[in-house]
Amino acid sequence: MRMKMAFTFGAQRFILLAIAASFLVVGEARTIVVGGSEGWRFGFNYTDWALKTSPFYLNDKLVFKYAPPSDTSVAPNVYLLPNLLSYLACNFSSAKLLANETQGSGEGFEYLLNRWRPAYFASTAEDGSHCREGQMKFFAIPWWHPN
Ligand SMILES: *[C@@H]1O[C@H](CO)[C@@H](O)[C@H](O)[C@H]1NC(C)=O
Ligand SMILES: *[C@@H]1O[C@H](CO)[C@@H](O)[C@H](O)[C@H]1NC(C)=O
Ligand SMILES: *[C@@H]1O[C@H](CO)[C@@H](O)[C@H](O)[C@H]1NC(C)=O
Repeated sequence: MRMKMAFTFGAQRFILLAIAASFLVVGEARTIVVGGSEGWRFGFNYTDWALKTSPFYLNDKLVFKYAPPSDTSVAPNVYLLPNLLSYLACNFSSAKLLANETQGSGEGFEYLLNRWRPAYFASTAEDGSHCREGQMKFFAIPWWHPN
């Protein structure tokens, strides 16, 4: 009887250690450049990119890289949309600015996927045509890291 209890206690300790170890793995962040070598630009299919890049994991870092505006080109920006409906409609009335037109240069703008909910991204530039016609939108649903 006493031996059985000792075993149970040992097993519980082992399970606790395993859970603690899994949290350590969760902490290992990946860095993912949005669009890969294409960066964040008009006309690239980010829905397709996100499908091929998923699954995303909690604490992944998404890096948005884009050139600042120039005399010959318009720069995008990065907004976070509040929900799926606003994302589908490219409705920015309740969207939150994450990075403006100049913040994607150099190392790019970094967004940490640290909340366990879908994150909807889009560019509002050119009165929303970046989002509607330019395919500059995607969402990422972070998962727990597998072990
Ligand atoms: C973008 O990619 C998605 C997913 O692969 C696809 O369903 C969609 O038709 C593509 N859009 C365009 C405009 O090619
Ligand atoms: C855009 O979203 C807001 C709420 O965020 C809503 O009040 C408004 O009606 C929406 N506009 C359109 C055109 O659907
Ligand atoms: C973008 O944001 C940066 C940092 O907040 C600021 O210094 C810069 O003036 C902004 N640029 C534009 C075009 O709003």
